[in-house]
Amino acid sequence: MDPLVAAIDQGTSSTRFLVFNAKTAELISHHQVEINQSFPKEGWVEEDPREIMQSVHECIERTCEKLCKLNIDVSNIKAVGVTNQRETTLVWDKDTGEPLYNAIVWLDLRTQSTVERLINKAPGRNKNHLRHKTGLPISTYFSAVKLRWLLDNVDEVHEAFLSQRAMFGTVDSWIIWCLTGRKNGGVHCTDVSNASRTMLFNIHTMDWDPELCRYFDIPMEILPSVRSSSEIYGWMKSGSLAGVPISGCLGDQSAALVGQMCFNEGQAKNTYGTGCFLLRNTGTKPVISDHGLLTTVAYKLGKDEPACYALEGSVAIAGAVVRWLKDNMGMVQSSSEIEKLAAAAGTSYGCYFVPAFSGLYAPYWEPSARGIICGLTQFTNRNHLAFAALEAVCFQTREILDAMNQDSGVPLTQLKVDGGMTSNRLLMQLQADILCIPVVRPTMSETTALGVAMAAGAAEGVGVWSLSPGQLPHVTSERYEPQINSEESEYRFARWKKAVQKAMNWET
Ligand code: G3P
Repeated sequence: MDPLVAAIDQGTSSTRFLVFNAKTAELISHHQVEINQSFPKEGWVEEDPREIMQSVHECIERTCEKLCKLNIDVSNIKAVGVTNQRETTLVWDKDTGEPLYNAIVWLDLRTQSTVERLINKAPGRNKNHLRHKTGLPISTYFSAVKLRWLLDNVDEVHEAFLSQRAMFGTVDSWIIWCLTGRKNGGVHCTDVSNASRTMLFNIHTMDWDPELCRYFDIPMEILPSVRSSSEIYGWMKSGSLAGVPISGCLGDQSAALVGQMCFNEGQAKNTYGTGCFLLRNTGTKPVISDHGLLTTVAYKLGKDEPACYALEGSVAIAGAVVRWLKDNMGMVQSSSEIEKLAAAAGTSYGCYFVPAFSGLYAPYWEPSARGIICGLTQFTNRNHLAFAALEAVCFQTREILDAMNQDSGVPLTQLKVDGGMTSNRLLMQLQADILCIPVVRPTMSETTALGVAMAAGAAEGVGVWSLSPGQLPHVTSERYEPQINSEESEYRFARWKKAVQKAMNWET
């Protein structure tokens, strides 16, 4: 039997555990569990760290049962990788092993006033004041302000910090710490791709930055150690995979870049999950954007390997708009029904939906923007609204693709895509129409999990997966060509931009 490598993919909306054949990259088995989000106040988004871990354990055990039914011995799993929703912030107690508050999810806006205060006191009120070190604008999106909020507002966190029991981590750190032993010898670490989303990490020195930590008043002793994305961090302590090394760790967008085999400078992918994230590999040099994109550490595939960087266009709301139509509006029973509704309309009939629920991310970085639906007439029905919601995802991608093309000066001639929403064929065709370039989707859509499985399998001491260019797995794909003319596309995009201006200035 070929060696197998597994991936834990802990996203904003669900957790998955997937097992791949390390020789062929074939997906052998998997299990998925949805994750609850809570919205305790307007703009707040939380998840329960215990539920996250329960979902991880459940996915591992159910997948192992499925493997047994396939007569596959789980001892063939040689390594486990962890990929995760990024920026989401947790603090737990080193002695009890228990979380001290819910996870504050990346989308959360509770730190908006802190962010405004920090921007106001920055020289020239410049939100890009820290960009030279972090690659990021000051925003509610990143972990530092969320961690500051926890230290300031949650007594248990403050007390644990004073008595040196507090541990901070993003979701990868929490999972690795729990799986490697928790209070009985758990490993407290993260990888460079996740660290680069905290605003405390210097993307040039590749380490926590004392000056940034002072700026946000974050005690450095509560931070995890920063490791490469591909090395053995520790071993699974219990369950069916006890003793298996955990040897890959990548933020989910970095993992998708690896899973799409975008190892060369200029290669790019767009992943449609809760949000939507377009990353373009810029090689071993960080490129600072002039058009509202982030500079991020893409990956470092081994202790002694160089770090690779990416330019990133982040859109907060993509799949989340469909979930909102389902959960908040009751418009559909399941997310997949959206495609049928939108197809029944075939047009938004002049309706534009800007889902700025968490402000607007790239290229605007405007936390005070709010969602808006405009262009309604008596004729508009839910099918048009469904179409407008899907079109919104495509327009937002067009905005970040334009910014990316302007920054790099070399326009992308096709867009590689992946993520849950890409099974929506109408969305894929719309995307090609609105970008005016072909959209290419791998037939195996679990690209994020594949990426971190590759990193885990290739780690020193595991060595069951080769990342040499000639030995990368062959991935089959399907291609969507633009079907409308560019005038029509530009006309719709221009109207979208008008709607965005209204979402940004909805109060004036
Ligand atoms: O930066 C947030 C991102 O990592 C979340 O990804 O797949 O949960 O939308 P996803």
